[in-house]
Amino acid sequence: QVSLKLGCGNLKLPVLTQRKNFAPLALSWMSPSSAAGFEGVSDRSDLQDFSVCSSDSFWAAVARQRLSWIRPFHTVQDCDLSQGRIRWFEGGKLNVSVNCLDRHVHTCPERVAVIWERDEPKSEVKLSYRQLLEMTCRLGNLLRRRGVKKGDCVTIYMPPCPLAVASMLACARIGAAHNVVFAGFSADALAERIRDAQSSTVITVNQGVRGGKVIELKKTVDAAIQSCPTVQQVFVAMRTENPVVMTAKDVAMEEEMAKEDTVCEPAGMDSEDTLFLLYTSGSTGKPKGLVHTQAGYLLYAALTHRYVFSYHDGDVFSCVADIGWITGHSYSVYGPLANGGTTVLFESTPIYPDPGRYWEMVQRLKINQFYGAPTAIRLLLKYGDKWVHKYDRSTLKTLGSVGEPINTEAWEWYHRVVGQGRCPVVDTWWQTETGGICIAPRPADPDAEIVPGMAMRPFFGIKPVLMDTEGKVVTSNDTSGALCIAQPWPGMARTIHNDPQRFTETYCQPYPGYFFTGDGAYRSKEGYYQITGRLDDVINVSGHRIGTAEIEDVLCSAVAESAVIGFSHSIKGQGIYAFVVLKKSIDVQEADVTRQINDMASKKIAKYACPDYIQFAQRLPKTRSGKIMRRVLRKVVDSELEGLGDLSTLDDPEVVQEIIQGHHDLL
Ligand code: WTA
Repeated sequence: QVSLKLGCGNLKLPVLTQRKNFAPLALSWMSPSSAAGFEGVSDRSDLQDFSVCSSDSFWAAVARQRLSWIRPFHTVQDCDLSQGRIRWFEGGKLNVSVNCLDRHVHTCPERVAVIWERDEPKSEVKLSYRQLLEMTCRLGNLLRRRGVKKGDCVTIYMPPCPLAVASMLACARIGAAHNVVFAGFSADALAERIRDAQSSTVITVNQGVRGGKVIELKKTVDAAIQSCPTVQQVFVAMRTENPVVMTAKDVAMEEEMAKEDTVCEPAGMDSEDTLFLLYTSGSTGKPKGLVHTQAGYLLYAALTHRYVFSYHDGDVFSCVADIGWITGHSYSVYGPLANGGTTVLFESTPIYPDPGRYWEMVQRLKINQFYGAPTAIRLLLKYGDKWVHKYDRSTLKTLGSVGEPINTEAWEWYHRVVGQGRCPVVDTWWQTETGGICIAPRPADPDAEIVPGMAMRPFFGIKPVLMDTEGKVVTSNDTSGALCIAQPWPGMARTIHNDPQRFTETYCQPYPGYFFTGDGAYRSKEGYYQITGRLDDVINVSGHRIGTAEIEDVLCSAVAESAVIGFSHSIKGQGIYAFVVLKKSIDVQEADVTRQINDMASKKIAKYACPDYIQFAQRLPKTRSGKIMRRVLRKVVDSELEGLGDLSTLDDPEVVQEIIQGHHDLL
């Protein structure tokens, strides 16, 4: 049995966790059309209006119905977006792991909770709710025994696997917050996140395996914690059979888990206690640790998972995002498990061992909903239809897209070739900050029109608005503007860890009283939304969000000056283009600097942060006050020389010609 490789496969049968406080909630899922008896609501479009206009009544009802509470909440919400105050379901107590596990174990213990699609093809491992609860409880007990307390923050540096999910849920069980760091991040990036989260415990695996390659994750952790004085222990699970050097801080995870009891008392958590931190990129060089809390986040992940994808009991749901991103948190773990669903954890790549991987998996695991990123769809499209046609996709019902705009060609291919023209494609717009999907088609609606490449409609309780350049709400249709959300919703991030002021400044102050998303959007004549891209210096490379300032920070030690911008890339969505000015004082070769830049970008951030193009320049276009005019650089790279705009504030307009020439020479 393959599951033995993760140590927990051969443990003795678990005892059901029985706590009288946690009687299972009858899962009387609200039928969308009956709309749970809300007054004046007779169909889904009424319900949409109701959810926005009577937001408190809507959220109170769904929160009571869909979550198991230890103690009911007394206040639905206490929010003031202009102050950055966001609180939901105060007075309520619950435990997220009980909501994701125990209540399903009571009703259907043998239902498959997780299918782990390992990198090695055709070697999937299935875990029932009973087994996942057992794993979580053992780990919860182990964490407790080793001193992890309520309110601590545990950093998890693991690829998608059952023990990673159990680690997240074990933290939730004992009231610790988790901080999952994408296992593609470098030691420096990991260290920065561990330090900011002040974790004393890190959970990792000996080695990762991806696309047939072994990745030395434990070694990366060893390197990272050199600069993390808070770290006292590192739990190491065995993903491969290769032993790794264990230090005094290391704990052999499966061995220690085997000694633990399979019952673990869940901590009663306040609705607004932190569930997790998740670091993401912003406009400055420093990543921000967004804080998500217990009840509101879980409720929102569960509701969106069910309705956006039309998830029904018994369906097999597959979100192929890594658990290190918010998409993996909400739609590989929390949403599906809160709904008692079966979720696929994908450890591999879309082209390993060949470009048929996704569809072979769909056939073998009988996947009903498939949720992926446009960058992968664009890549697979290039390999041709034969890789798709080879496999039976008749189980598929809904196809989802996330992370970046999906171009019409990719959308059409996904719909026509992958979905055989019969599965709705839901282009879902949301962010780490929003906790769950905010704008997406709702295929189950009676008037379920979907326009290719458009995110379409707001989800229940979401009121999007567009702002003009003067900061006023645009009321007409067929216009574009800065995308804001006009009222709070339970899934939104609460603050930035260690930097509440940055949260208010970034999201609440640009348009006082509104949540500013950082994205631009177009609203069509029919009132449908299309996301047009970031308005700030954040770019999206293969669905990985990264701040241009983060890359510039890395480059600054190798060069005198740099300006990094995103450009349109046919597969990755956006690529990275770096303009650099060499240090004058030293004699260096451009090739050496290129190598150095690539090394540093992968060392300090991750491989995907390496520039696609590096243009060496004598100087950069600057205003008289010394600010780099990025607009000019963007236009040059996009070959929009007509639209360079007003150059009169440039210190020396001649620079522009040099830059244009340099760009020309580079291509
Ligand atoms: C972009 C990922 C267009 C957007 C869930 C957003 C999208 C950022 C879409 C968040 C979409 C996400 N269409 N753009 N369907 N989905 N984005 O935090 O710019 O990693 O602000 O969350 O990705 O990226 P994040």
